[in-house]
Amino acid sequence: MIRLKNRAEIIKMRSAGKLAAEVLDYIAPFVNEGETTERINALCHEFIIKSGAIPAPLNYHGYPKSVCTSVNEVVCHGIPSSSQVLKDGDILNIDITVILDGYFGDTSRMFMIGNVSDNARLLSERTENAMYRGIEAVKPNIYLYEVGKAIEKYITKFGYSIVREYGGHGIGSEFHEDPHVYHFYTTLNKIRLKPGMCFTIEPMINEGGYEVITSKSDGWTVTTKDRSLSAQFEHTILVTEHGSEILTKI
Ligand code: MF3
Ligand code: CO
Ligand code: CO
Repeated sequence: MIRLKNRAEIIKMRSAGKLAAEVLDYIAPFVNEGETTERINALCHEFIIKSGAIPAPLNYHGYPKSVCTSVNEVVCHGIPSSSQVLKDGDILNIDITVILDGYFGDTSRMFMIGNVSDNARLLSERTENAMYRGIEAVKPNIYLYEVGKAIEKYITKFGYSIVREYGGHGIGSEFHEDPHVYHFYTTLNKIRLKPGMCFTIEPMINEGGYEVITSKSDGWTVTTKDRSLSAQFEHTILVTEHGSEILTKI
């Protein structure tokens, strides 16, 4: 069941989305060579709490930290750690989800450490472009699968693959609501968009194959099966009368 947001809820979604975006801007200067992913986690946690919000990942189905930090071949759900030191050439995704006044804002972006290889930089840039292609497809009365279709059309020409096991999601007063948002074309997303729908668009793009594996030791960390690089960008969006509004922007 897809829950449409009313005017009062949309105002709260805007506030939550804005705060999530602010966390990413706040953390950016700290994302450097020699920094640990745990330090990034601690700083984000403190910022979110001081802003009167709750870091949604913490204790979510047992997730142990406040943000996700996914480095290089980690696709998503990387767990910040004091033993993980960022090094020159790394790329990482930081995924922030906050709960503010009962509503969720969810956004992520890539960061580059020092001198990053051309292929890593291109993968990140093109993944961001792919997310925007998906967002630009959004308008009332189209089928949701147009989002995945637009992403697929743009990204596959580079020889990259789209992760199939994870997708975007409806979002509101819960972290993950209906619908599931596929980032590739499938009639499973033959759902008509209506003003008031809120969902994330968060393509995970691999340089190699689409297959992923989940760590047996921590139960969370998802990596590419072939150990190729992976990138991801995420925004929370609202379907409006004429198109869409990105909620996770400053
Ligand atoms: N923020 C992620 C998403 O975009 C979900 C993280 S769940 C966690 O849906 F438990 F790993 F934090
Ligand atoms: Co999300
Ligand atoms: Co997220």
